[in-house]
This record gives sequence, structure tokens and C-alpha cells, in this order.
Amino acid sequence: MHIQDTNVILIVDDIPTNLEVLSEALIDAGFEVAVATSGESALKQVEYDLPTLILLDVMMPGIGGFETCRQLKANPKTKDIPIIFMTALSDSVDKVKGLSLGAVDYITKPFQQAEVLARVQVHVQLRNIGVALEKQNIHLKQEIEQRIAAEAALQQLTQDLEQRVAARTEELSQALHTLQNAQVQLVQSEKLATLGQLVAGIAHEINNPVNFIYANIHHANKYIHDLLVLIQLYLERYPHPADDIEKTIKDVDLEFLIEDLPKLLSSMEMGAARISEIVKSFRNFSRHDEADIKIVDLHEGIDNTLKILEHRLKKKVDAPAIRLLKKYGNLPMVECCAGKMNQVFMNIISNAIDALEEASSNGERLIEPTILIHTDVEAEYVVIRIIDNGLGIPQDVQQRLFDPFFTTKPAGKGTGLGLSISYQIVKEQHGGSLLCISNPGKGAEFVIKIPIKHLSQSEQVLSLARQ
Ligand SMILES: Nc1ncnc2c1ncn2[C@@H]1O[C@H](COP(=O)(O)OP(=O)(O)OP(=O)(O)O)[C@@H](O)[C@H]1O
Ligand SMILES: [Mg+2]
Repeated sequence: MHIQDTNVILIVDDIPTNLEVLSEALIDAGFEVAVATSGESALKQVEYDLPTLILLDVMMPGIGGFETCRQLKANPKTKDIPIIFMTALSDSVDKVKGLSLGAVDYITKPFQQAEVLARVQVHVQLRNIGVALEKQNIHLKQEIEQRIAAEAALQQLTQDLEQRVAARTEELSQALHTLQNAQVQLVQSEKLATLGQLVAGIAHEINNPVNFIYANIHHANKYIHDLLVLIQLYLERYPHPADDIEKTIKDVDLEFLIEDLPKLLSSMEMGAARISEIVKSFRNFSRHDEADIKIVDLHEGIDNTLKILEHRLKKKVDAPAIRLLKKYGNLPMVECCAGKMNQVFMNIISNAIDALEEASSNGERLIEPTILIHTDVEAEYVVIRIIDNGLGIPQDVQQRLFDPFFTTKPAGKGTGLGLSISYQIVKEQHGGSLLCISNPGKGAEFVIKIPIKHLSQSEQVLSLARQ
């Protein structure tokens, strides 16, 4: 579709006078004029030259004006050309019919020249504006389509990019996770090995001398008893010894000595017995330092751990003693790795002690610092709760508690590995669970759940699926 430079008006009329009159008027007004004397010839003409507007007579021999109009409107090429009917002044039926067939207007015969020109001019103008608008519309549509296509391409590109970034991020975080895990494992085995070696070393070194003392105290006791009997006998037989003996008896306060020495010996014996008990728990603690799953009394593990931590529970210059409450249930023997479980107890009880020490160093607490250890059986699990009445754990810290290297302790004090290692031991190595319950200000509770019968990795997955 194009706007012609000159506007061509096609006049279709079978009466030559009409053609002549109209042509003259239109040419004078600056239009170009084409003529056809029948509907058929008009249809043929528009095929090769599209006019801007058609003036169409209603009454013509042959197919007539209405039929010509219908055919023009039915043809996509010509349907938009405005048609003005020419009809007799009186014939209002024709006017209505013409408009209903798609004509834009009508003019009446006999022609009023000024009216014809005015109507033609208006419709030519409208037509030209219509054509220009349509052209602009097409242009706009093309532009919109181009933009939509560009936008889609951009979106696709963004999506691709996002996917690639997401995939890469996933890869990297996977790698980081693996790395951290490896590091935790390394530190774990190192920590465990070091602690185990240290404890085993100390136990070994102390064990022998303590045994001498313990074994010899018995003999010493007997010898001293014999000596005392002897002295007693001397005193009875020689109630008046020489002056220097008399003097020495007074100087050493023999009476008190005879009375105190057995007490002293028995307290030495108790002390030695206690040392050998501690050494035994040291050896127990480290003896299990193997990855093997054994049948274990977990209470023994907890008690051994407590023995090692005993000094930390005692009263300090700047902190009160920590009260230890044990509420042990009737636990069966558990299939687990004792050394590793001891390490879990060690980590969690140490944390509780740290928390209580921190609380008392803050000086804001009045209640007695206490650690409660509660054990029980729940279905196929043993449940160990380690509860302290320290400052508790804020919500944001709770979320990161089990993250490797997360610590709130000053540099050099905590590595932030205690809980992440414990989590790994309980969850991954034993198929149990470790969780923390804490309301800030109200202390913390750590709940360790361990299956009584050790499950293989695949059994662990199945049991998780069942839960
Ligand atoms: N009973 C508790 N009360 C209050 N906070 C706790 C308690 N147990 C753990 N936390 C918090 O959890 C953090 C992480 O504990 P985790 O045992 O993993 O590391 P750590 O004690 O800081 O260092 P590490 O045990 O390696 O020496 C601690 O720094 C502390 O903030
Ligand atoms: Mg810790």
C-alpha cells in the first residue's frame, strides 16, 4: 500500500454527461481522473491501477453499482478504497443499502459541484491519513517485534548466564564443602591422636611409680606398725631411759607421732589409690582410641571423661565450683566406638564448663553453676543430655553451632571444631543425632542420640527414611 503523489479518482457511470461533468470538476480541483462506463470495466481497471477513491453510480446496466461495490469490498486488494455512491436524490433506500455495503458516503444527482468536491476531498484526505497511519502502524509493529525478539534473546542470555553462574557456584561450594570436610577429618584425627597419645603417655609414665608407691605403702605400713610396737615395748620395759633419750622423746613429741603416723600413712594410701584410679581412667580413655565398633558402657565413658575434666569443676580463685549432677538411667551396652564417643563427651562437657566459667566471669549470675548429665533409653536409642545453666546460646549462634571453625571464643582459645567434629562422629559415624536446645539466658542442652545397635551406612539411610 502506498500513498500516491496525485490522488486518482475513478468515476464509474454509464451516462457520458455525468462522467464529463464530474471529470471536469475534479480535474479543475487538482485530482487525476479515471473513468469506467460499467461495473465490469471498473473491476478490471482497479486490477492494474488502484485509485484513491471511487465514485460509483448505483444504476448501471450489467452488474450494477451494488454488486460492483460488493466485489470491490470482497477483494483484499481493493477493499480499503473508499467508495462514494451516486444516487438519485429521492432514493433513500439506495443510500442506506450503499452504506451498509461498505460505502463511505453518497452524493445525489443532480450534482451540486461544490458538495461533490467537498465530500471527495474529505474522503481522500481521510483515506490518505488512514494509509499513512497504517504504514506507521506496520512500522511500529515491526519495531515492537524486533524489540520483543531482542528482549527474548537478552532474557535467554541472562538465563544462560545465571545457569552457568549457579552451576559454577554449586561446583565451588561443593568443592569448599569437600575441602572443609577433609580438613575437619584431618584435624579430628590429629586432635584425637594427640589427645590419645598425650593421655596414654602420661598414664604410662605415672602408672609405674604409682604402683611402687601403692605397693610399698602396704609394706611401709607394716614396718612402721612393727617399729611402733617395738617402741611401745621399750617404753614399757624402760620407763626411765637415759636423759638424752628422754629429751628426744619430748622433742619429737613421740606421743603425737605415734598417734598421727598411721593416719598419715592411710591418707597416703588413699591418695595413691586415687592416683591409680585416675591413671586407669586415662588409660581407658585412650585405650578405646581406635576406630573399631565395640560393645561399650557409655556411663563408663562419661565418667572417665569427667575424671579427666575434674580439675576444671573445682573452685577457682575467681570462680565458684561447678556442681555436677548425674541422673543415669538404666542403659544397655551400646555398639559404638568408645574413643570417639569419649571425644564427643569431652567436647560437649568442656563447652558447658567454658560457658559456666564465662557466666561467672561476667559476674551477673547468682545461681550455682551446674552441669546435669541425664541418660535414658528411647526406643532403639540411648539418649544422653548434657545440660548447663550458663548464659545460653543466641539464635544466630545456634544456627552456626555445628559449622566447622565457628567459635565465639577469643583467638587462641577455641578452634571452633569441637561441635562440628562431635556432629560428624554422632551423625555420620554412628547414625545418631546431635542437637542443641537453648533459650538465651537460660543455659544450653545438648542431646546426643546413639542407636544401641550399630547400623551400617545403608541401614542408616533406611532408618532415616523410616523416621
Ligand atoms: N554449652 C554452651 N553454652 C553456650 N555456648 C556454647 C555451648 N556450647 C557451645 N557453645 C558455642 O558454640 C561455639 C562452638 O563450639 P565448638 O565446641 O564447636 O567450638 P569452641 O568451643 O569455640 O572451640 P573448640 O571446642 O574447638 O576448642 C562456641 O564458641 C560457643 O559459642
Ligand atoms: Mg568446644
